[in-house]
Amino acid sequence: MDNLYKMTYHIEPSRGLINDPNGFIQYKGIYYFFHQWNRFGLDHSYKEWGLFTSKDMIHWQSQGSAILPDREEDKHGVHSGSSIEHDGKMYLFYTGSNKNNGIRKSRQCIAISENGQTFIKQKEVIDTPNGFTEHHRDPKVWRGHKNWFMLVGAQKSDLTGVVALYSSNDLLHWNYEHILYDNNLDQVCECPDLFRLNNETDILICCPQKRTFVLSENKETVSSYTCYIAGNFDENTMSFTPSQCRKYFDYGFDFYSPQTFLDSKGRRIMAGWMSRMDEEQEALCPTKEFGYIHCLTLPRVLTWENNMLYQRPIEEVFQLRHNAQSYTSKQGKFQAETGHFELHLIQNKSHSFTLYLRNRTICITYHAKTQILEVSRKNWVNGEMQIKQLMLSELLELQIFSDNSSAEIFVNNGAVVFSMRYFTSNQNLEIEYAGLEHGEKLQYFTL
Ligand code: FRU
Repeated sequence: MDNLYKMTYHIEPSRGLINDPNGFIQYKGIYYFFHQWNRFGLDHSYKEWGLFTSKDMIHWQSQGSAILPDREEDKHGVHSGSSIEHDGKMYLFYTGSNKNNGIRKSRQCIAISENGQTFIKQKEVIDTPNGFTEHHRDPKVWRGHKNWFMLVGAQKSDLTGVVALYSSNDLLHWNYEHILYDNNLDQVCECPDLFRLNNETDILICCPQKRTFVLSENKETVSSYTCYIAGNFDENTMSFTPSQCRKYFDYGFDFYSPQTFLDSKGRRIMAGWMSRMDEEQEALCPTKEFGYIHCLTLPRVLTWENNMLYQRPIEEVFQLRHNAQSYTSKQGKFQAETGHFELHLIQNKSHSFTLYLRNRTICITYHAKTQILEVSRKNWVNGEMQIKQLMLSELLELQIFSDNSSAEIFVNNGAVVFSMRYFTSNQNLEIEYAGLEHGEKLQYFTL
């Protein structure tokens, strides 16, 4: 049977389940995107680091397994983490999980590679300090001026989520410093990240997670989301002072656990897991019949401009553009050539606009009067439209990247992004729009 949902320029596994991006690095000219992987099944019961490599972040090669759960410290999971290059070597940091007798023990572990092919686990590990539970994971390491820093996503003994800070002089021995951030992070903070943009603003990314027991269904549900806080990280006091309120990182349906790295061109590049679905959607995700589930987002360049975070797709994706078409009439309908395409709208001034993708599987509407942007997609579980709404004072630009079963919608030059999966027949290629004004155009490219 043909797989209508297979991605063409996004990372997805050939089998099993993929979740968080891990250890992003450009090493000896090659982009390494490690990731959480259950290569044996479609659930979260087993985790190792898999690896994709690429020269351009568009054409990917699966390298299979990179770090396996094969020693006491990590035998119940090689969980998320990061990597860094030092003296020509790649240092990888991950959380080793051990659940002997059902008791969770987490350790931040280290592996070193000199060739990007073999990853040698080190004996040094970081044990969880007092004051925390064993929900202590997802180390993110970066170079400061004087030493190395590590953030760890954590839970305090009072069962609230926090970000813990460590420092090191040699990447092998780490000191716990203190809690860097603890403002309203639900029960656990997962996958933190911290980096500076444009030499002026530090961005702290947090993924707060909470478990709620639903009495009527007699089960626990997990909810989580990704946010960021702009501010300043002072290396001397090792403290983070927010300068803005906390914001959502992505406004779509499927986005979680982003990770960033700096590439050789000085770009701060981010990709996330495009599918922290709710349980029902994960259970009924249509790719499961082809033996795999989930994918990563397109890599995006992060910048800080006019006190705002912008996310834009890496320019490498434009090399895929062909079959350009331009639509200028007030409203219209046309057929995309395939499910992998780009649409680009630039408005001369803000006004209402409506765009339907793939026979109304996704609808984007901007209501100029109420200043509401509405993005909806058909839920594959029940066929109903799910809606996200956002107050947006003006709509000037829309850029949409569709792959066969995903859409990433960049609004106003990347000031706001909506990421999502969608599933529809490959016959459904109709694109419909309404609201173009004189002198404006909607551009289409097959990717
Ligand atoms: C986030 C997360 C991480 C953990 C990993 C396990 O999605 O729960 O906190 O390290 O996934 O796969």
